[in-house]
Amino acid sequence: MEKVILITGASSGIGKETAKLFQAKNWKVAATMRSPEKAEDLQKIVDLECIKLDVTDPDSIRSAIDRTLEVFGRIDAVVNNAGFAVVGPFEAATSEQIERQFETNVLGLMSVCREILPYFREQKRGTIVNVASMGGRLTFPLYSIYHASKWAVEGFSESLQYEVKEFGIKIKIIEPGPIKTDFYERSMSISKKEGLTAYDNFVARAMPNMQKAGETGPDGSVVAEAIYDAVTDDSWKMRYPVNSRAILIARRLLPDALFLPLIRKAILR
Ligand SMILES: NC(=O)c1ccc[n+]([C@@H]2O[C@H](COP(=O)([O-])OP(=O)(O)OC[C@H]3O[C@@H](n4cnc5c(N)ncnc54)[C@H](OP(=O)(O)O)[C@@H]3O)[C@@H](O)[C@H]2O)c1
Repeated sequence: MEKVILITGASSGIGKETAKLFQAKNWKVAATMRSPEKAEDLQKIVDLECIKLDVTDPDSIRSAIDRTLEVFGRIDAVVNNAGFAVVGPFEAATSEQIERQFETNVLGLMSVCREILPYFREQKRGTIVNVASMGGRLTFPLYSIYHASKWAVEGFSESLQYEVKEFGIKIKIIEPGPIKTDFYERSMSISKKEGLTAYDNFVARAMPNMQKAGETGPDGSVVAEAIYDAVTDDSWKMRYPVNSRAILIARRLLPDALFLPLIRKAILR
């Protein structure tokens, strides 16, 4: 039987690559996004439906799930991929930036889970894939608000899997390292405060090194492959690092006193 996947944030980067990969593997794909009218290339693909979904708008989540069921008749997997990053000194961030970070990366993802869980529970199976980040397990400077959101996604996902396993529902966490997508450009909201210059030197030293990691990373297709594995490998394995395995092992093995200076040295070269 053909299977159906719903993906959030499928307009670009990892979400778009994931939509294309699942379609190529004969899945039916609900490629959801804030502005489906702009996705002219995706609209031409068979068995792929572009559907409006803004994760900060619960009504749009509900109607995207309804539309997917109407078009394809079922849902087997959901990928919570939509996200962005507030970047810059914490002190310079506005309340609006902090709230929007959590509304999108955390509360939006939770809302999608809450809407799909009754359906998955009823059908006694389903897979939810949450795109966290290696930044949900370790940190870099200037990303404090983004890290807080991704650490929240890790904790939420790990706890949720205990509750839903007995209903046949799998929770998978994807932990990408730097991936070359729009993330390092239009999906960044820079924190900057008029008159606050104290951090300028630190930002000038750290920022180019962080951006370089994104520019030299692999493209979103490697994450799409990991998401495909997570959905189809028939296991209860929970975490899937992508381009992040070595640093995550180092984080696990090294005490803070060794690991944190290593990060500082790498970033403030
Ligand atoms: N690139 C990396 O290095 C990296 C590393 C680790 C984790 N990640 C995570 O991977 C995920 C995808 O990012 P990406 O790298 O593929 O960047 P991207 O190309 O910028 O994609 C981000 C996507 O999220 C969507 N989005 C943002 N706010 C949304 C909202 N309120 N409702 C629905 N969609 C929304 C964007 O839609 P619009 O087109 O409407 O803006 C876009 O489709 C994010 O969760 C990110 O944190 C990325």
